[in-house]
Amino acid sequence: MKIAVLPGDGIGPEIVAQALEVTKAVCKKFGHVLTYQEALVGACAIDAVGDPYPAETHALCMESDAVLFGAIGSPKYDNDPSAKVRPEQGLLAMRKKLGLYANIRPVTTFPSLLHKSPLRSDLVEGADFMCIRELTGGIYFGRPQGRSEDGTTAYDTCVYTVEEIERIVRLAYDYAMKRKKKLTIVDKANVLCTSRLWRQVSQQLEKEYPEVATEYMFVDNAAMQIIQWPKRFDVMVTENMFGDILTDEASVITGSLGMLPSASIGIHTSVFEPIHGSYPQAAGKDIANPLATILSAALMFEYAFDLKAEGKLIREAVDASMAAKVVTEDIAESGKAYKTSEVGQWIVDYINKQ
Ligand code: IPM
Ligand code: MN
Repeated sequence: MKIAVLPGDGIGPEIVAQALEVTKAVCKKFGHVLTYQEALVGACAIDAVGDPYPAETHALCMESDAVLFGAIGSPKYDNDPSAKVRPEQGLLAMRKKLGLYANIRPVTTFPSLLHKSPLRSDLVEGADFMCIRELTGGIYFGRPQGRSEDGTTAYDTCVYTVEEIERIVRLAYDYAMKRKKKLTIVDKANVLCTSRLWRQVSQQLEKEYPEVATEYMFVDNAAMQIIQWPKRFDVMVTENMFGDILTDEASVITGSLGMLPSASIGIHTSVFEPIHGSYPQAAGKDIANPLATILSAALMFEYAFDLKAEGKLIREAVDASMAAKVVTEDIAESGKAYKTSEVGQWIVDYINKQ
């Protein structure tokens, strides 16, 4: 197993360090030979070499079997809209160059966290769905993008091709077939031309999957229903920006944004990353929740290496840490909160003991 480790910015290095220790412990337990190498991405890469996704980082990703990714972003750039190079461009370039067109974001609940959700426990308990977000198209990548010469007008362009829509919706149907055979296709076809193309392509594919119950839902309605009745969803597929927004929203079902992992898959090496950002206010304080990244490592074993027992052991260790209340401040009860590194170490010890 050769892994590229990309900690990135903010809390990235701290949470990735814990996920890496967990990965090492699992490899030791199951006798897998692990090699890994770190590389720069994001604001730290701009500072070091002037490029948020340097060619060496891309080369390392390409020759690795999986990428473990932390987070990118920095207030230095967030507060400077005129910055020519932005850290996020590194993440977008990585997604595009690795062909990561599908971002899989499982939304599940944890019994010990139910009270942390702002939603009523009876509404969220047992919620378990998967959001499949298209990741290399739409308004994030469409051109033209820019400003008029006098600076008084700005524009972004949302673009989708039949091919792009077909491959992601097909992938969603394949997941639906493996789960409850229910697929929600989220769009804004009452307004957007790209959404109407999504619907047209999806209606064609629907015929190939007669066993799957397909429903079409406008994104505004989906935003409401995720909160109102999260258990109604099983597999959901949507375009890039809708998926970005809906999955942050969905994280409140879990109880903390610090809990949701993701897998980005596509043409080249897959990337495993938490859905949350770089949380700069917490950087270097050893307080950030490492569980989303540790759970992303679980997805890495399962998706990149087809090692199910390994992923399961990580999940079990994460559940045990929560049951033992060894958790960071975002999900701690009024009592003691543990440090990022303490939570990671507890999980490593748990794995070693099995
Ligand atoms: C995410 C993040 C990124 C996105 C940002 C950092 C560019 O919010 O992975 O969800 O918008 O895709
Ligand atoms: Mn996001």
